[in-house]
Amino acid sequence: MALITFSNPDYKDRTVYAVAGSHTKSILKIAQENKIPINFDCQDGDCGSCLVRVTQIGKDAGKAPMGVSLTMKEQVKLRELGKLTKEQLDDLVTVDRTGEWRLACQFIVRDEDILVEY
Ligand code: FES
Repeated sequence: MALITFSNPDYKDRTVYAVAGSHTKSILKIAQENKIPINFDCQDGDCGSCLVRVTQIGKDAGKAPMGVSLTMKEQVKLRELGKLTKEQLDDLVTVDRTGEWRLACQFIVRDEDILVEY
């Protein structure tokens, strides 16, 4: 189980449990199931409207999440949105860490507690 805390200045923070490791549930899907109003449009990594900032909470607070590696669509869209530099992209290849900026429709939850700012 993973704890996901959704945070937005216009809404009260909300923490939900998520089954980790299913490889099917994105942050966006979990948000929708819990009526958390994250913006979205395409739900397929193309539009960038579901941009969120994801960090770990608990013992690894503030660190970028392990998550599932950035998909190619995320890499392209995050570069377009200016949320992923070339250096970060190069680091991803060598260090296998993801950045903090993710697309909620592409980020599959793993067994880690995370803060999702939207
Ligand atoms: S909803 Fe379009 S990129 Fe996520």
